[in-house]
Amino acid sequence: MLTTRPRGTADILPGQTENWQYIENVAARVCREYGYREIRTPIFEHTELFIRGVGESTDIVEKEMYTFRDRGERSITLRPEGTASVVRAYLEDKLHAGPQPVKTYYIGPMFRYDRPQAGRLRQFHQFGIEVFGAQQPAADAEVMALAMDFYGRLGLDDLELHINSLGCPECRAVVREKLQQYFQPVLNELCTNCQDRFTRNPLRILDCKASHCAELAREAPTTADCLCPDCRAHFEKVRQHMQDLGIPYILDKRLVRGLDYYTHTAFEIMAPGIGAQSSIGGGGRYNGLVEACGGPPTPGIGFALGLERILLALEQRGKLPDIKVGPVVFLAAMGDRAIREGFSLLARLRAAGIAADMDYQGRSLKAQMKYAGKMGVRYAVIIGENELQKGSVVLRDMIAGSQREISKDEAIRALHS
Ligand code: HAM
Repeated sequence: MLTTRPRGTADILPGQTENWQYIENVAARVCREYGYREIRTPIFEHTELFIRGVGESTDIVEKEMYTFRDRGERSITLRPEGTASVVRAYLEDKLHAGPQPVKTYYIGPMFRYDRPQAGRLRQFHQFGIEVFGAQQPAADAEVMALAMDFYGRLGLDDLELHINSLGCPECRAVVREKLQQYFQPVLNELCTNCQDRFTRNPLRILDCKASHCAELAREAPTTADCLCPDCRAHFEKVRQHMQDLGIPYILDKRLVRGLDYYTHTAFEIMAPGIGAQSSIGGGGRYNGLVEACGGPPTPGIGFALGLERILLALEQRGKLPDIKVGPVVFLAAMGDRAIREGFSLLARLRAAGIAADMDYQGRSLKAQMKYAGKMGVRYAVIIGENELQKGSVVLRDMIAGSQREISKDEAIRALHS
């Protein structure tokens, strides 16, 4: 146990963290350009928030939450997603009292107790955005455009954007009734999960992965068929904006999403070829959520994209950049005096912004040079007996294999340029 991490978690090691930083930097840059500012909320919240926010009948709340009692006997849950927390912060920190819309983004770990497999972890990471107070269809288009722009900048240009409209609560009531009428005659042919969904949330039957349910649902009515005139007009305008922006999408009337809070536009982005877990991101509008959490009626919309799945897609397509990190210069010195001189020079190099390192194992000069080669440094600065006498150093170009003896100041200047 001591040397085994919990199932469904991962260590992100040096050599991998650089890829994460790369993705996070692209996300931050895109967000800045679109006017989104970072928000950081706690990793745990009161359980009640997710029950109310994500929805009681969702898989997340029913089966996947990491919930525990803290020492004060409060029920606490590790966040399974970011939207509910950002809504809570929007209300608690009175962001609704400032200028609207409020446009936020976040990057961080989420927790869901699910069966781990490729692309599915129990601790995973999302990059998400949430917008409050923007009811116009252009906001829906902006949110999807930002997601696709972000993927595009990473070089993921073969993704599929699926979109649908789930309508308002009134449309939802209509489709719910139609679905119950449609499925009633075949109710006992549905899987037990869907039989349960039949009363609680029949829309989710459209999303069932069981082949017989999918078969039965093929001709079922969809939300898109039951939209009221306002919802239909909203969705039409969203689609027009997407066309104007030249962003291709697939109209997917079966798309329902696994969280309860969605209204109007819902979308999911698929990455072909990354395995069973091909949903690389998803989101949509949630116009009733702020109110459901005790706030004023406020339109909301956002998305979350799974970073592990993005990495899988990048890896699979050979799109991960070759990021070179680590020291550029290795300072090789031997003997107490040379080491003292070398250590001071190391500090000067670093102060000049040059990534530099030296030996801390008491290796011989020869072994130090061998180690420098293994580390892949571009230059070595060597202080041997001879250089110590003259107050000079040897600057060696590790690739060219050439070297020259120069003063310390000259070495700093040369390495700085
Ligand atoms: P979600 O569809 O549950 O939506 O998750 C969004 C993305 O997170 C998924 O498309 C997937 O890439 C990633 N993801 C989810 N679960 C896992 C897992 N167990 N392992 C690895 N990756 C995973 C939400 O979370 C909503 N909060 C999105 C949203 C924001 N809607 C509006 N605003």
